[in-house]
Amino acid sequence: KTAAALVLPKDLGEFSEMAELAARNGVVRNCRFYMLTAYKSIARLFLTAQALKDEAGAVNGFCLYLSPVSPDEWSALKDPHIFKNAARKLGRLTSIGQLTSMFAHDIKNPLHVILSTSELLRAQEGQPEAVRTGVELIERNARRASKIVKTLLDFSRSGMCRLEPYPVADAAEYALELIDSSLKAARVRVEKKFEKAPKVFLDPHYMHSVIYNLVNNAAQALEGVRDGCIKISSGWLETEKEVFLTISDNGPGLEPAMLENLFQPFFTTKDSGTGLGLYLARQIIDEHGGRIIVASSPEGGALVSLRFSKTA
Ligand SMILES: Nc1ncnc2c1ncn2[C@@H]1O[C@H](COP(=O)(O)OP(=O)(O)OP(=O)(O)O)[C@@H](O)[C@H]1O
Ligand SMILES: [Mg+2]
Repeated sequence: KTAAALVLPKDLGEFSEMAELAARNGVVRNCRFYMLTAYKSIARLFLTAQALKDEAGAVNGFCLYLSPVSPDEWSALKDPHIFKNAARKLGRLTSIGQLTSMFAHDIKNPLHVILSTSELLRAQEGQPEAVRTGVELIERNARRASKIVKTLLDFSRSGMCRLEPYPVADAAEYALELIDSSLKAARVRVEKKFEKAPKVFLDPHYMHSVIYNLVNNAAQALEGVRDGCIKISSGWLETEKEVFLTISDNGPGLEPAMLENLFQPFFTTKDSGTGLGLYLARQIIDEHGGRIIVASSPEGGALVSLRFSKTA
């Protein structure tokens, strides 16, 4: 492949400008580029191009140096204190990830035994009241623990995001299809407004689960609310140069004190919640180089907006 083939199409203009500059001046240093990796994820790279000249002085090629760190980051890494801290943190995160998936895997089978045994016991007739409620409690909690384990396993198994140019509106439509019947059963109205927007680099599998979780949160917040409505909109924000996908509801909204904790793993106010929905959503959106904004919706409920700046 030529080097230009690795650059995102929208950056091609800048890439050829850089080549011209390198041809003229001999060298250009530390231009920031986003490139598509073999795994279809986007890598941020700093590129130094040095022109190669023949004996007559004509440019007949370039030598390119690619670095995953900027000069600032590089000098920071050379600082032994900062480097040690960064390395320690990275090591810790990796081992936590490995430990989590090992732990989740090992705990899956004993949980399954607890769950199926309590189901069997519950099905037996003529149990004293205290036994019945006790078994129900065991079953409910085992189910919740299973949900946590399943979410953690799903997340740690699929590994990194595979990004491809994809319309966010399509991702939203797909997620809505999955949740449609439960929204209808709960008599929640859905208003869609998908405006024209460029495609963004996203992993459809992960994005479906993020959107599904956000719509599910909105639906759960609307339990017992009259005229519950979820609005889903997407489009292009010219000032921010971002594609947005916003999900809002007219439920009870979010207490200001809660905002700080929303993205903490295991933070939940629901009996059967894992508290991993928003935490994982943020991790995934981070992987996409995007951001996630939580605010109050104009209808008084909650509003969650996903923003993507890497358009295709
Ligand atoms: N649309 C919303 N309206 C009101 N509160 C919300 C909304 N979305 C999230 N929350 C609050 O944020 C908390 C964390 O949400 P998160 O999705 O991370 O976990 P969860 O929904 O509790 O559990 P799970 O996603 O496993 O069902 C929720 O328990 C709820 O209190
Ligand atoms: Mg949730």
